[in-house]
Amino acid sequence: MTVRPLTDADAPAVSRLSQLAFGWKAEELPDTLKDQTWLGLDGPDGLAGMVRLRHYEQWFTGRSVRMGGIAAVAVHPHARGQGTARQLMTAVVERMRSEDQPVSTLFPTAPGIYRPLGWEVVGTLDETPVRTVELRRAADPGRVTVRTAGPADVPAIARLYDQLARTGNGLMARTGPEFPAGAEGVLEHDLVALAELAGEPVGYLSYTRGKGYVDAEQRVEELVATRGDAAAALVRSLGSWDSVAPTTVWRGSTSDLALLLPSVLPPARRAQPWMLRINDAPAAVAARGWAADADVSFRLEDPQVPAQARGWRLVVQDGLGRLEPTEATGLPRLHVRGLALLYGGGSSAAAMRAGLLDALDPALDAAFGGQPARILDYF
Ligand SMILES: CC(C)(COP(=O)(O)OP(=O)(O)OC[C@H]1O[C@@H](n2cnc3c(N)ncnc32)[C@H](O)[C@@H]1OP(=O)(O)O)[C@@H](O)C(=O)NCCC(=O)NCCS
Repeated sequence: MTVRPLTDADAPAVSRLSQLAFGWKAEELPDTLKDQTWLGLDGPDGLAGMVRLRHYEQWFTGRSVRMGGIAAVAVHPHARGQGTARQLMTAVVERMRSEDQPVSTLFPTAPGIYRPLGWEVVGTLDETPVRTVELRRAADPGRVTVRTAGPADVPAIARLYDQLARTGNGLMARTGPEFPAGAEGVLEHDLVALAELAGEPVGYLSYTRGKGYVDAEQRVEELVATRGDAAAALVRSLGSWDSVAPTTVWRGSTSDLALLLPSVLPPARRAQPWMLRINDAPAAVAARGWAADADVSFRLEDPQVPAQARGWRLVVQDGLGRLEPTEATGLPRLHVRGLALLYGGGSSAAAMRAGLLDALDPALDAAFGGQPARILDYF
């Protein structure tokens, strides 16, 4: 079986396999593959496996990096357990390398599927049910006011999101064909609130009110604030719904919300992991931002991409990084999954504990900066 690009003529087969593998409803099934990238392979009964490659950009410490988003990975039940997914994923890594997508992100149904192929879990997208009444206990918001946002506020909201995304690791740049609604997409939610201080936007909140009169569950899509009083004002505005929506599902980092409330929060109801792969280490190093200068060498291990499995010297100067090939011997081993962990904000100690790095290196931690990985756009 050889992997081939799927065309629009494959749409019915893609629909059938999606229905089988993911239980998608009729309205969720793709009726066209036009302007989309899919790879697949054929078996005796038709399409045996498929994967969709999406084209995104993701922020890593101040710079945005081209990212291949992996979605809709499915293998027909009769073709499972024979390396079909492995073959597809190996081909899609090659495809991403040729499309200048140095990193790749996916939301796994099971991390064990993608670990042997070089992806590693770097973060989770949490959904935490909180008693709405607790949200009334956020700190005094001082002079911050909250009002309903409208179309004229869209550029300010986009700027607030960008400001947050640029400083951390993992949030997507919401531009390009994968975001057809563009910045206006934020207004698709039931309610969007804007926090202002002296007329300046300092945060926003988008959420869904939920169904029901006195027993609704409201759902936060995202809350972004540049300062604590803005976050408190927005959390309190959510809390004002407690009489009709006793539960609020907080979407995003639960620990961020915990910093704003005096009570212990319940555990996340869902913690969807997301995984990162470094497809092209020199390009990934050159594309991202860095927290500190470094000069560190290691031997990269990557069974799926022999082209990058070798000795490298990482040099970071004036905020720019480069990987230079080195023939030095005796270098500490860094598995490509360990590189993903570091790239996504994990520590070299965590990589070592997971068996993905041979020796602790504070210089690596300082250079990568250790900003926790976040993502808000599920695909
Ligand atoms: C998950 C799925 C794509 C695997 O396809 P497959 O062709 O059987 O996978 P492969 O035989 O190529 O196995 C690839 C690796 O994944 C591992 N793996 C496969 N299924 C797994 C599972 N359910 N849980 C954990 N690991 C799994 C295999 O052990 C193998 O690792 P190894 O090479 O170290 O042995 C297939 O079972 C499927 O379509 N499932 C339903 C849909 C789904 O969950 N898709 C993933 C969406 S993120």
